[in-house]
Amino acid sequence: MEQICCVVLAAGIGKRMGGDLPKAVAKTREKALIDHVLESLAPLKPKKTVIVVGHKREILEDHVRSSKSAAGHSVEFALQEKQLGTGDAVRSALSAVASHKGTVLITYADHPLFTAQTLQDLVAFHAFKKATVTVLTFNVPPPNGYGRIIRHEDGHVLRITEAKDCNPEELLTREVNSGIFAVDSSFLKPAIDSLVPNNAQGEYYLTDIVEKAAKEGQTVAAFPLGNPEEAAGVNSPTDMHYVNDVLKRRHVAHLRESGVLFDSPDTCTIDVSVTVEPGAHIGPNVQLRGKSSVGAGAIIEGTTLIIDSQISPGALIKLGSRVEGASIGELSTVGPFANVRPGTVLGKEVRIGNFVETKNTTMRDGAKASHLTYLGDCTVGEHANIGAGTITCNYDGYNKAETTIGKGAFIGSNTALVAPVTVGDGAIVAAGSVITRDVPKDALGVARARQENKDGWAKSRREQLESSKKK
Ligand code: UD1
Ligand code: CA
Repeated sequence: MEQICCVVLAAGIGKRMGGDLPKAVAKTREKALIDHVLESLAPLKPKKTVIVVGHKREILEDHVRSSKSAAGHSVEFALQEKQLGTGDAVRSALSAVASHKGTVLITYADHPLFTAQTLQDLVAFHAFKKATVTVLTFNVPPPNGYGRIIRHEDGHVLRITEAKDCNPEELLTREVNSGIFAVDSSFLKPAIDSLVPNNAQGEYYLTDIVEKAAKEGQTVAAFPLGNPEEAAGVNSPTDMHYVNDVLKRRHVAHLRESGVLFDSPDTCTIDVSVTVEPGAHIGPNVQLRGKSSVGAGAIIEGTTLIIDSQISPGALIKLGSRVEGASIGELSTVGPFANVRPGTVLGKEVRIGNFVETKNTTMRDGAKASHLTYLGDCTVGEHANIGAGTITCNYDGYNKAETTIGKGAFIGSNTALVAPVTVGDGAIVAAGSVITRDVPKDALGVARARQENKDGWAKSRREQLESSKKK
């Protein structure tokens, strides 16, 4: 493929996006709008990429300079002093592309969804047609604000007429301008120089170069966009919401293609920063956020939020769990309804059951805390068993303290472990204990009032109360 030059129009203010920043730095759920555009242009290996800047240019320029999306681009900035229209914006870029012979691809910074494939196809089509101007078009039912593609009866493109300049008949045209053009460089300069702002908006319209080319008998081609979804521009928070929705669906579709199983893909939100291995199974209503990973064969049952966590192969996260800043080992089980907080490290085949909260806690291979437990600042040895209702009392209102539970230890239900405290390997703690001193290895720790049974006491009380009622 021939080497092209790119011009990206980015002088616009994002007034309706709120704030006073250049619109091009507004962020989708993945990155700034300009980053999306630069990344889809990169595979075309442009000789030069000229970004037309205007409002708060420093902010946009600083962003691009430090963005990894600019890798592979030789970026140059061109200043458009006043926003006099898309034609005037391209005029600002002319000197930067003056030495280039061949195709200039013109795109907008606020249209983040065009794929590299589409842009490559457009450039290839333009070359194949030996066209002077090729416009990327799509079909949309009126009413809409796009420039209409006006064709001669014989089908060839005559001009593009902006919605505000259309007569009622032209307004009914369904074929519209996406905004993306491939233009031959030798035509671009004279065409831009000839623009006049005699239209409803008093602007220099880039689109007017189409009519000029057609009138001169040059070839004007229209390349139809396969998926009109790609043409979405961002002018408002509502548009951004739409774009994010498309990006979300694209990412899930990409994971499905790679072999990840989804029960209800439309209900899941998965950040692009998350890796999910083929063979993982994701239930409904799952959010995977930040720097998380899910291994092969892991199952995330559903209604779960996972942030910055590693879920190892074969692990099972049951319904309704929240996992943040944690590492879940192979074949371990979490939930249902568990709250796994930052600093949790689970080894292999660990079990965290329902209504268990962990924080800064390491549980070694095969350890279990199956029900109703809080483990904070705690280390649990291999195959130790933590009974229901066990609580580490790790905080005295001022400081945190550590609890250490040994290998194979057994903590009876409803135990309070008042930290700092250690329960040795193989030790047993009797149910209902409040443990304030270390329990040695293989010992029994009991810390509760001794039970006393009073024979006949209940019966005599009952008889006494019955007889007083009769009186
Ligand atoms: C433009 C097209 C229209 C097309 C539509 C697709 C023209 C005259 N019209 O209309 O045919 O259907 O896009 O979305 O080209 N910009 C500058 N400087 C300016 C003006 C615009 O950099 O002086 C940038 C904007 O920041 C934006 C892009 O160019 O990124 C498009 O400008 P906008 O005003 O939104 O064009 P539309 O009126 O939507
Ligand atoms: Ca627009």
